[in-house]
Amino acid sequence: MTTIGFIGTGKIGATVARMAVTAGHDVVLSNRRGPQSLHELAGDLGPRAVAATPEQAARAGEIVVLAVPLEAYRQIPAGPLRGKVVIDTANYKPAEHPGRLPDADSGVTTPHELMQHHLPGSFVVKALANMFFRHLPDLARPAGAPDRSTLPIAGDDPDAKAAVSALLDSLGYDTLDAGPLAESRRFATFGTPANQAYLDPEGMFAVPGHPAPATRIAELLRSVP
Ligand SMILES: NC(=O)c1ccc[n+]([C@@H]2O[C@H](COP(=O)([O-])OP(=O)(O)OC[C@H]3O[C@@H](n4cnc5c(N)ncnc54)[C@H](OP(=O)(O)O)[C@@H]3O)[C@@H](O)[C@H]2O)c1
Repeated sequence: MTTIGFIGTGKIGATVARMAVTAGHDVVLSNRRGPQSLHELAGDLGPRAVAATPEQAARAGEIVVLAVPLEAYRQIPAGPLRGKVVIDTANYKPAEHPGRLPDADSGVTTPHELMQHHLPGSFVVKALANMFFRHLPDLARPAGAPDRSTLPIAGDDPDAKAAVSALLDSLGYDTLDAGPLAESRRFATFGTPANQAYLDPEGMFAVPGHPAPATRIAELLRSVP
C-alpha cells in the first residue's frame, strides 16, 4: 500500500482520495485554505486520512496527486516533491488560460509540460485529466472485469508511469501509455475526443458514464492530429 499526498482536494482530488482509502492506501490531504478546512473530510475518510499543508502532503506522499487548477502551477512546492512521482490531473482549456500560464505563454514550454517545467526534479505523469469526477468511482471495476475502463497516461519517465499504472490499477482502472508528457495534449486538452471518452452521448455528464476499453482510448488518442 502507498501513501498518497494530495495538493488540491476539491472535486477530483477528494474523489480520488476516497477511492484510494477504499483501496487501502493512506492519504494526506491539502488545499489552498489550510488543514482546518479539511478536517471534516479527513474524519469522514477515517484513520487512513489526515489533513495537512501542501508542503506536508508533498513530503509525506510516495506518490503525490496534483488536483489544482492549471494556473496554480507556480504555487506547487517544488522542493519537497523532488525525486517523487507526481500525478498531474489538470486539463488545459485553451480559451480560459490566456495570460495566466506565463511559462506557456512565453513559449518556454507547452501547456502540457508546465508542471514538469515547474518541478524539474520530479517525475510528472499526466493522468485522470479526462474523466469527470462523478464517473471515476462509478466506472471503477476489479481487474479482469469485461467492462473495465482504461485511462490514458503520459510522462517522460517509464518507472514513474509504471508506479502510476499500479496505483490506478488498485483504484479500478487499466492504463494505456500515450507516450511522453507532451502527448498528454491528446487527452488533457479539454474537449478533445479522448478527454470526453467516458461521457454518455445521450446524457453527457449523467452518471454513471460510459466504460471505454483500451482499443477505444487508443483510437480517440490517434484521432488528434
Ligand atoms: N472536476 C473534474 O471532474 C475533473 C476531472 C479531471 C481533472 N480535473 C482537473 O483537476 C483540477 C482540479 O479540478 P476540480 O474540479 O477538482 O477543482 P475544485 O473542485 O475547484 O478543487 C480545486 C482544489 O485545488 C485547491 N487549490 C487551488 N489552488 C491551490 C494552491 N495554490 N495550492 C493548493 N491547493 C490549491 C483548492 O483549494 P481550496 O478549496 O482551499 O481553494 C481545491 O482543493 C483541475 O486542473 C481540473 O482540470 C477535474
